[in-house]
Amino acid sequence: MSDPDVPVALEAYEALARRYSEIAETKAENGYNEHPAMRAQIGPVEGLRVLDAGCGPGFLTRYLLDQGAAEVAAFDISPAMIEMARERVGERASLVVADMARPLEFLPSAHFDLVASSLAIDYVRDWSVPLAEFRRVLKPGGRVVMSVQHPMGAYKWYSPPSAFGVHLCEATWKGFGGKPVVVPDYYRSFGEIVRPILAAGFSLRDLTETQPVAELEAINPRKYHDGMVSPTFMILDLAAG
Ligand SMILES: C[S@@+](CC[C@H](N)C(=O)[O-])C[C@H]1O[C@@H](n2cnc3c(N)ncnc32)[C@H](O)[C@@H]1O
Repeated sequence: MSDPDVPVALEAYEALARRYSEIAETKAENGYNEHPAMRAQIGPVEGLRVLDAGCGPGFLTRYLLDQGAAEVAAFDISPAMIEMARERVGERASLVVADMARPLEFLPSAHFDLVASSLAIDYVRDWSVPLAEFRRVLKPGGRVVMSVQHPMGAYKWYSPPSAFGVHLCEATWKGFGGKPVVVPDYYRSFGEIVRPILAAGFSLRDLTETQPVAELEAINPRKYHDGMVSPTFMILDLAAG
């Protein structure tokens, strides 16, 4: 039984932080799939105030800054990830260690134009807290763009006991070199993704089932083919009323 006060993925990401920071941009799933899809979905950010929730080593944080965001605040549960993000963006963003499963009291209300979150909210069982906080910190009419595991891909990857509901699962990551790391995560059905979003008062503007970019075909034909026929991630684009 996991301790409900300890974020499920903290230990794993502390162990993975440096390797993830060094390698993820060259991985089929991240650099050639989720990163470009997320950036396309976000669109122009010039002049916007953006929160990067679960920023990891700061790939998206740096991108948002380079694209001319007026302000980028970022947080992550893992101090080691925040250290990597600091190496990547220096003092250009505000970087804080914080848990998405708890109120984000350090953030002002009605301040941000956009909350962007890449592959992080999956690690929180109860989405009502982060979604309510995203809504609070957004200006009226603001957007959340967040990527999550596609339930179909997650079902294949984790083999949860049922396709319905939310299930704590784990997988052993071997693709980042070094010692394999067991990463706990939550499998979540489509209903468990959509219902908390609507309950938090967001409307769904768009949903993208991501596919790899064409460049991957020459680099890793097998992963390219797999990614073209079976979704691993999806991006939810939400509007705050
Ligand atoms: C797959 S990584 C994605 C990192 C980054 N967004 C990216 O795309 O490179 C998942 C991240 O979520 C963070 N995370 C997990 N649980 C969290 C929580 N409860 N609050 C904040 N961040 C969390 C992890 O520490 C890790 O950095």
